Amino acid sequence: CGIVGYAGNIETACGKPLEVCLQGLERLEYRGYDSAGVALTAPGMDKVVVRKKAGRLKNLVEDIERKPMPLATVGIGHTRWATNGEPSDVNAHPHTSMDGKVAIIHNGIIENASQLRLDLQAEGYRFASATDTEVAAKLLGKIVDKIIADEGKPDLFKAVRRMARMLEGAFTILATDCRQPDIVVGARHDSPLVVGLGEGENFLGSDVAAFVAYTKRAMEVDQDQAVCVSADKVIVADFNGNVVENPKTYTVDWDASAAEKGGWDSFMDKEIHEDPAAVQRTLLGRFDTNGDITLDEVRIDEHDFKSIDKIIVVACGTASYAGQVAKYAIEHWVRIPVEIELAHEFRYRDPILTPRTLVVAISQSGETMDTLMALRHAREQGSKVLAICNTQGASIPRESDAVLYTHAGPEVAVASTKAFVAQITAAYLLGLYLAQVKGAMFRDEIHQMLDSLKDMPRKIQWVLDTQPKTIQAAAERMVNANSFLFLGRHVGYPVALEGALKLKEIAYTFTEGFAAGELKHGPIALVDEGEPVVFIVPPQRGRNVLHAKVISGIEEVKARGAYIIAVAEQGDPDVERYADVVFWRPACPTLMSPLVDVVPLQLFAMDMAKLKGYDVDKPRNLAKSVTVE
Ligand code: G6P
Repeated sequence: CGIVGYAGNIETACGKPLEVCLQGLERLEYRGYDSAGVALTAPGMDKVVVRKKAGRLKNLVEDIERKPMPLATVGIGHTRWATNGEPSDVNAHPHTSMDGKVAIIHNGIIENASQLRLDLQAEGYRFASATDTEVAAKLLGKIVDKIIADEGKPDLFKAVRRMARMLEGAFTILATDCRQPDIVVGARHDSPLVVGLGEGENFLGSDVAAFVAYTKRAMEVDQDQAVCVSADKVIVADFNGNVVENPKTYTVDWDASAAEKGGWDSFMDKEIHEDPAAVQRTLLGRFDTNGDITLDEVRIDEHDFKSIDKIIVVACGTASYAGQVAKYAIEHWVRIPVEIELAHEFRYRDPILTPRTLVVAISQSGETMDTLMALRHAREQGSKVLAICNTQGASIPRESDAVLYTHAGPEVAVASTKAFVAQITAAYLLGLYLAQVKGAMFRDEIHQMLDSLKDMPRKIQWVLDTQPKTIQAAAERMVNANSFLFLGRHVGYPVALEGALKLKEIAYTFTEGFAAGELKHGPIALVDEGEPVVFIVPPQRGRNVLHAKVISGIEEVKARGAYIIAVAEQGDPDVERYADVVFWRPACPTLMSPLVDVVPLQLFAMDMAKLKGYDVDKPRNLAKSVTVE
């Protein structure tokens, strides 16, 4: 879910809380779009004013246009990805206390909500919705009432801290109380929250996208901390009320315009076209004057790096396929075993971890709960964790021993594209760095690989410049296909998986990715007349044995009537002979090929989805950043 909050003062705020909330929600919609809502408070109100609507943000905006909301000093806003209770007006956030004086929004899952609900019901509290958030709202109202009874005045900051101590599970909560119309209070446990520092106004957000249009100065709120924000003051404290002196602040390194469409008709289109820049920017500043790799921001010393004898990559979705690509490269270069595991499987498997194991957590958002939990588990077992992440200051890099940022820029479309190529680039840098410190490769070999890597943005650009027409035509031809098979070998295998995932995610086409070698062990049974099969064909140079094997696979399915789409090296005569459609790539070393091969598959999925009339940026049921387990 996406969360935004704003606190201004009476002279300046007026319409601003609503404006900030709606703008912030628009930027955060990628975090969920089942429903949206806002709550506003101003001096003199005897209730918080709440408006919420099921469906996309535009439903809420239209509703507010029809029936304007009052001017205010503070506001909170929420865009929801339903976990607890179906998407509906009633279940949408904010939720309020019994007397309507307190409103809250929430991201996460409160695990003891059922028990708390029963306790509150026994005391006469009534509930309108099925959500755990409403339980927290009623509970908070009760705590505020108790504080008023004991101390003679409301204290929302204290009440939120007290509530936070009673909640189990994961949460970021923002709350507002009409009796304290100058503050917004937040609290977090296992879910993100950032403060945006303005002049005479302050902001809160589940990530910096919520407020980057207004300020680039951000302040961290750590695990199990609460924050009280007013127009000119920010106080951070732990749940027991101990104030944190000098909380860490930082400057957001991207511009608000980076998270805007800028002329493209979808974010996905824009972001695919940023693939070359994503690779290039991830390589920037990572070399010393001799051309050797220096990973300055990696806070693991060289001695520890030298002693690493195993790597386990943990990630989910697209990031896990980037990890799978990296396994082939790093094992080949560094000669240490690399395992890749889905983060949610890793944690519950009792994996073998030692202080010499390096766990690499790959995540675009840096907030995926499954990956965060996996890295915590690894650290508890004494392993070092290095994050490969695209989001500055997110939970995953903050809780890791080291971080290697991918500088792909903000990725807004739910289906990941430019982050994938940036993740592979960062993982390759890490692999070559390990080879460098461990002396696993000759310096010349490393430099040769780096030269190939540095050349990839140009090659990706060639695909973007020359292949779209062929890809569009293929999509038009295949738009009614019921299913697809994607096949690849070696590094082409994770690329096939990623290509299949893209098509599933946004075009809702039943698609399976397989290792091409498995074809004859099962998938070939699915091949019938006209069945589309996509092959990732390895480079042909040096009589690549893999190339010959993939070509045999193509022949086998061709003989059974399949419609062949191939991703292959420019001028490959074998592919020309058998394939019905070819998406060409410029020649490059095998290990570099995933960086180009995925690009036509991203475009193909997008074209298919657009032809079917789907919203490519916001596919049904998905959220970009899944902050629940
Ligand atoms: C969600 C998104 C995917 C993404 C995955 C991992 O499922 O829909 O596109 O690959 O999360 O996200 P992360 O932010 O950890 O890379």
